[in-house]
Amino acid sequence: MDFQLSEEHLAVKEAAREFAQTELLPGVIERDTHAIFPKEQVMKMGELGFLGMMVDPKYHGGGMDTISYVLAMEELSKIDASASVAMSVNNSLVCWGLEKYGSEEQKEKYLKPLAAGELLGAFCLSEPEAGSDATSQRTEAVRDGDHYILNGTKNWITNGNSASIYLVIAQTHPELGHKGISVFIVEKGWDGFVVGKKEDKLGIRGSDTHSLMFTDVKVPVENRIGDEGFGFTYAMETLNGGRIGIAAQALGIAAGAYELALAYSKERKAFGKAISQHQAIQFKLADMATQIEAARLLVHKAAWLKDQGEEYAHASAIAKLYASQVAMDVTVEAIQVHGGYGYVKEYHVERLMRDAKITQIYEGTSEIQKIVISRGILR
Ligand code: CAA
Repeated sequence: MDFQLSEEHLAVKEAAREFAQTELLPGVIERDTHAIFPKEQVMKMGELGFLGMMVDPKYHGGGMDTISYVLAMEELSKIDASASVAMSVNNSLVCWGLEKYGSEEQKEKYLKPLAAGELLGAFCLSEPEAGSDATSQRTEAVRDGDHYILNGTKNWITNGNSASIYLVIAQTHPELGHKGISVFIVEKGWDGFVVGKKEDKLGIRGSDTHSLMFTDVKVPVENRIGDEGFGFTYAMETLNGGRIGIAAQALGIAAGAYELALAYSKERKAFGKAISQHQAIQFKLADMATQIEAARLLVHKAAWLKDQGEEYAHASAIAKLYASQVAMDVTVEAIQVHGGYGYVKEYHVERLMRDAKITQIYEGTSEIQKIVISRGILR
């Protein structure tokens, strides 16, 4: 067993850390306050290869492993989880499935610009009445010659407005339940496709989360990914990998809050000495560091299993469940270390606490992770 990161991994980590400091940190408070999508920053992330990190270079990706991806996710999430979720969705929920299950034509037309970061993608599974219960899809695609006619509404879609390419999960044979679900590539601008309301959120306020409406949208048959009926398995497999990215995001949020708390504790004086010299603060720092280290090991293990071609659904659910709890615990404690300063925007930790909460909700709530984990145990 080797816990050492390679030279290449360290270089990716350093590049992401520098990008986060120089490009994401300036303006992050303003973007959060006014719910502004980090458009320029995400475009630069695309130019630097952060949006298609694991895609084969022949499809314009970075050809890197999942460990590199989680290292970059952690570093970017320390500073701006709104930017890192755009990256996570594009890498894990959009590019991964297109590369694994897309046709050669789909890869040429859609995967290449998505992996190169020229276009942004969105993954459209959730509906007003199908969040955790993903089999209850109401969006319907009815075959009509060489097209499908798509009707329905999707909710809480990350990159909802900034994306150009949308992977939409829809029923093709409702009578077959989850075996009647398929997945389609839909382009922004097609007749009948409307981007709906933007959500005003507690955290990741820079991420543009929208509802989407499809009314008689004509989707060519060649835009279906895989066979009819493959959509639910496709979505579940996609989320197995996506959860590694969100676990890494949660880890980054926790580690970012911890780094701020540690630095603050060395500067701030109370009762005649730096507060880091008080045992009350030292115990908090020790707890935070321990939780973060444990979360990092789980995230890296899930990423490593995926890279080895081993089964990773169980490990990714465990990593997401634990890392997202750590993100909540550590960000709350980081505010406590900062005292009153932690409660105001200028010190960043209150934003990190608000951002942390979503990691217990999207790509499956903590309760969904427990379902996946317990099924793995009992199988
Ligand atoms: N991996 C692979 N296959 C899986 C799977 C997994 N993790 N979970 C289920 N499946 C397969 C099953 O094997 C089964 O296949 P067969 O019929 O071939 O045997 C099929 O899917 C149906 O499984 P279940 O009967 O177990 O389905 P279920 O209805 O009981 O529930 C669930 C499954 C795990 C609860 C699932 O609905 C789920 O994961 N829900 C959460 C959905 C979710 O994460 N949504 C997030 C939206 S995306 C998002 O948040 C993106 C973003 O903005 C950042």
